[in-house]
Amino acid sequence: MSDEKNLDSLFNGFSKLDYQDRLERLRDAGLIVEDDMAFLADGGVKDIVLSENFIENAIGYFQLPLGVATHFRIDGVDRFVPMAVEETSIIAAASKTAKWIKENGEIKTSVMGSEIIGQIQLARVGDFTKFESLIERNKSHFIEMANREVVPSLVARGGGVRSIQVRKLVRPDGLFMGIVHVYMDPCEAMGANLINQVCEFLKNPIQELTGEKVTMCILSNLVDSKVTNAHIKIKVDAELGEKIEEASLFAELDPYRAATNNKGILNGIDPIVIATGNDWRAVEAGMHAYVARTGHYTSLSRWRYQGGLLQGQLNSPIIMGTVGGVTRLHPTSKLALKILNVESSNDLSRVCAAVGLTQNLGALRALTTVGIIEGHMKLHIKNLSMGAGATDSEIPILQKKLEQILVMRKRITLSNAVEALREIRAPQQ
Ligand code: MEV
Repeated sequence: MSDEKNLDSLFNGFSKLDYQDRLERLRDAGLIVEDDMAFLADGGVKDIVLSENFIENAIGYFQLPLGVATHFRIDGVDRFVPMAVEETSIIAAASKTAKWIKENGEIKTSVMGSEIIGQIQLARVGDFTKFESLIERNKSHFIEMANREVVPSLVARGGGVRSIQVRKLVRPDGLFMGIVHVYMDPCEAMGANLINQVCEFLKNPIQELTGEKVTMCILSNLVDSKVTNAHIKIKVDAELGEKIEEASLFAELDPYRAATNNKGILNGIDPIVIATGNDWRAVEAGMHAYVARTGHYTSLSRWRYQGGLLQGQLNSPIIMGTVGGVTRLHPTSKLALKILNVESSNDLSRVCAAVGLTQNLGALRALTTVGIIEGHMKLHIKNLSMGAGATDSEIPILQKKLEQILVMRKRITLSNAVEALREIRAPQQ
């Protein structure tokens, strides 16, 4: 992992700094250089040719705000965490909760397993017993062939195809479907293209050996063979600890609540996945499938309170790459990886798990105490002011007025903002 230096002096007061000072703090942390500062200040990537290389029919870029969450101390290492996200309260809540944890507890992470999964489907297998035993007897040969022909450079880096497993599914018509699972260590890549190539390569040898027909090949996003864990311990009073445990039980027992709880966790994870050029749809699909794998969709996190200590766990596949895809091609994701200062794709997954669980803790703390509106709407007031049509000079005046309304009425809407703006403008009309 990165240099183990304490970044407290650079974290403190970060949100109160103006734009240039924020960039200077990142430079002082040794995370960016003058060229990066100029790139960011100029609005990031604009090169249309690059977008044409990424996608078909490109007409431009969709720019999301990019920020950094502060105060994250993960496995003893201080990090600024780059997050690309439009939701106003996410980075503020992540930073505030990370600071609270740093001062009263700790965040530890780990990754269990190293292999991603590819699937080869044989929709109708005539003689399943024969099919299974042929694959079992020849799997070392298939593994050796795929490593030699398709992913030799992965093998050279210490990865490659490790094992093959046959699964049997009973179809609605009573026949058997055969699924061949291919397990591969993708090293620093997320590995989607590599595992898909391995599976497609194995299609013909499997057909020739078994006489059965392969119907499709694709990776699985339910990667239960590579699971990232985050664990938070924090000293809290019994009242808060018990409230958060109750909130956790709610999400563990009720899929309606679990969906929202997990969305809150993904509030912390998706912005990092996006900022680093990774596939957020794959991460989302994998995480949701993982917590539904028993047939009951449940919470990604679990919080328990005992003897002054609140402890939270998150276990989930969070498959990320630091090479491959657009991670190193998109200038902003390259820069985000530099700011995050991670050395491996596992480190990146661990940061995601840590931020996701932290975000969850922040949400549960707010939900079980002051409610979500107070913090959320305070930050959302600026959006409402802009939405109401306030000009740059009117925004601070309208914001102040809306803050007063929020304190008085405990809620605020766009029509309040429109009405308040009308009142501000009234004397001049
Ligand atoms: C809002 O973006 C996220 C929350 O709904 C998460 C939660 O309910 O735990 C606040």
